Amino acid sequence: MTETAATQGRCPVVHFDHNSAEHSKDPAASYRALREEHPVAWTDAHGGYWVLSGYKPVFEAARDDDTFSSERNSYGGEGLSVVIPKTPAPFHIPIEIDPPNFRKWRKLINPITAPAHVARMEEIVKFFVTKFVDDIIESGEADMTSVIGVPAIITVDWLGLPIEHWERYASAFHALLVEVQGTEGFRKAVEEDLPFLEGVTRQIIAARRAEPQDDIISYLVKQEVDERPVTDDEVFAIVDLLLSGGVGTTASLVSNTVVWLYQNQEVRQDLIEHPEKLQRAIEEFLRFFSPTQGLARTVTKDVEFEGCPMQKGDRVLLSWASANRDTEQFENPDEVDIERWPNRHTAFGIGIHRCAGSNLGRAMAHELLSQILARMGDYVVDESALEAYPHQGTNNGWKSIPATFTPGPRVLPADARKPADIRY
Ligand code: HEM
Repeated sequence: MTETAATQGRCPVVHFDHNSAEHSKDPAASYRALREEHPVAWTDAHGGYWVLSGYKPVFEAARDDDTFSSERNSYGGEGLSVVIPKTPAPFHIPIEIDPPNFRKWRKLINPITAPAHVARMEEIVKFFVTKFVDDIIESGEADMTSVIGVPAIITVDWLGLPIEHWERYASAFHALLVEVQGTEGFRKAVEEDLPFLEGVTRQIIAARRAEPQDDIISYLVKQEVDERPVTDDEVFAIVDLLLSGGVGTTASLVSNTVVWLYQNQEVRQDLIEHPEKLQRAIEEFLRFFSPTQGLARTVTKDVEFEGCPMQKGDRVLLSWASANRDTEQFENPDEVDIERWPNRHTAFGIGIHRCAGSNLGRAMAHELLSQILARMGDYVVDESALEAYPHQGTNNGWKSIPATFTPGPRVLPADARKPADIRY
């Protein structure tokens, strides 16, 4: 590679872009080639960034917030600091805050995502999954991604946002992460849908402050930091992050798993016959697919890291997906072993910003896969019509999964509503 202003003084320099069509064709192979040669390397794509693809460098950088910062800043452009290139998203709390400030914000989120809270949501998760499977089960054919809308509707309902807008929330937040910048889908999300939805979210925040209900926004408006009430802007920054974390990631995990289980029918049969194996299998699917492929940091000072000269302001991609395939950490990492244990995967990140929604994500994935396997377990995917996300750099998965299956009976009446006595 010729030396440019961006590559000057950096080494090793590689030809790599996690958002390119070339990488999207086979992200695992693309990362393998990089990791085996250079687990830490510089590329000049997107204005230049370091790519960390080995388990050890990813692990170490993710635990060193003094050097690898998540704070919103202007290095690498305006927008969300934890992705490359930055997307034009509002400030997000707490993912764009470093310690020590970070802690008081994460403390607000922990109680609403803790195992005890998610256990209370079990019936709600079950209700929505049942309803979504009911909607297709009698027909014997469907795009299976319709069922995978469940995480989005649950996140919207849990937060207290109007459920009639759930599809618009899902597609707009999803577009930010999976559409290619400059396309019509991306433009529509950024210029039309997201501003509209921001207005809706802000209206609900104001309404809940005036009159609290049984939802997460009502909880958030009542919180305090530094002995003062949390402002509406701060509540918005948390809610917007919960939406972007909640709507796409679990859908990506389940869509990848559904297609893979069709392609590996002996494992599908094993899980149908032994549903108790599903919990551990989900950890393996998280490792293998890494629904959030990688996230970014910014270097805070000139430093040598794993022999590489990093400079203040350099952008760095931590590839959770590549760390999850490192032979130094996992035996046969390119194979799915649904009984793999221990499984110290990085799919939920590492360090203080480790996913706040992991318990909810796991619970939704478990219920979705359980019902798909139990109620439509003989599904046949039309592989020739499968449609992947346009790029797989941040979130990977399937946009469309046309399938047929033996029709079955509904469980709930067609007009069933979420039981009123179940509370968040
Ligand atoms: C399979 C599902 C999911 C995956 C793979 C996933 C992945 C991740 C990853 C890799 C991070 C680390 C961010 C970083 O280090 O910069 C993260 C953070 C986060 N996730 Fe998730 N996530 C999932 C589900 C969810 C759900 C369902 C929610 C919320 C409803 C959520 C909310 C969050 C939040 C709030 C953070 C930021 C935590 C912080 O900064 O302290 N996630 N997630």
